[in-house]
Amino acid sequence: MACTAVLIPGLAGGSLGAICTRAASSRLTPSTLRHLTLASIMKSKRKTDHLERTASVVRREVVAAAKVCGITRESPSVKSLRLFVTDKEFSFKAGQWVDFFIPGVSVVGGFSMCSSPRLLKQERVIELAVKYTNHPPALWVHNECTLDSEVAVRVGGEFFFDPQPTDTPRNLVLIAGGVGINPLLSILRYAADLYREWANKRSGYEIGTIKLFYSAKNTSELVFKKNILDLVNEFPEKIACSLHVTKQTTQISAEFRPYITEGRITEEEIKDHISNETLFYICGPPPMTEFFSKQLESNHVPKEHIFFEKWW
Ligand SMILES: *[C@@H]1O[C@H](CO)[C@@H](O)[C@H](O)[C@H]1NC(C)=O
Ligand SMILES: *[C@@H]1O[C@H](CO)[C@@H](O)[C@H](O)[C@H]1NC(C)=O
Repeated sequence: MACTAVLIPGLAGGSLGAICTRAASSRLTPSTLRHLTLASIMKSKRKTDHLERTASVVRREVVAAAKVCGITRESPSVKSLRLFVTDKEFSFKAGQWVDFFIPGVSVVGGFSMCSSPRLLKQERVIELAVKYTNHPPALWVHNECTLDSEVAVRVGGEFFFDPQPTDTPRNLVLIAGGVGINPLLSILRYAADLYREWANKRSGYEIGTIKLFYSAKNTSELVFKKNILDLVNEFPEKIACSLHVTKQTTQISAEFRPYITEGRITEEEIKDHISNETLFYICGPPPMTEFFSKQLESNHVPKEHIFFEKWW
């Protein structure tokens, strides 16, 4: 095996062999493994945009084999994948992404998890939602990926929510634009899990209230709206959401009409939620992310309470 040729930015020298041994121990077929090591990982030396953008971002050292165990069309342009990851060393924090290695595809993808870390703990499953673009990994997900396809994943990213049980209870405000919903949905689902545990056992982290602001082009691009509304209905005293569409051309269906506002998320709406007990997580197109983080700062929200991810 050409382990010596495996050089990925962010992987320390001592852990280079980990790619081969981990992948092998998770029963990747020899041909998949050869493709991964020779084709995708080696060529990733050429630095792709995701790797380039995130070259300085901390990564975990585990590259784990993953098998596709579910594919769902979430909207005309978004597919979500469920991946089965058996490697117990693989874990992530709500809000993080994975480097996504595809056998035979030389470009490495970067996709955010949209599931809760609890789903991984309980069922060894992670979920990713991938928007259609011409980027080879996204093309592969949309056109070639099937049930039982084998890939490999490695966790990275500094945008996450990971409170410790003894941390001060905080409220969360999550602000999502378009596919920026993915990491924030992971955080929302994790927050709901933490609240369930607190409500049932009075143990773990005590979470405050959670408010999601989520804006997309139109109702079909407002992916996961049903999952979000289910959480709001399960915990009406804890979780609230404000859903927005900016370019709706058809009438909003009766089912969703009560929950959806036409027009952007406004600074006034956000201002109502400003306090020193609140953490703000923002993920969306760069102009939107910058707009809201500057807005919060100018309203005296401490910088360490504002988290944002721009490149989605
Ligand atoms: C939303 O926009 C997309 C892309 O422009 C379009 O394909 C889809 O039909 C639109 N959906 C609705 C409900 O207007
Ligand atoms: C948060 O606390 C700091 C220091 O006590 C204060 O200067 C600031 O105005 C407070 N911000 C908000 C939004 O209440």
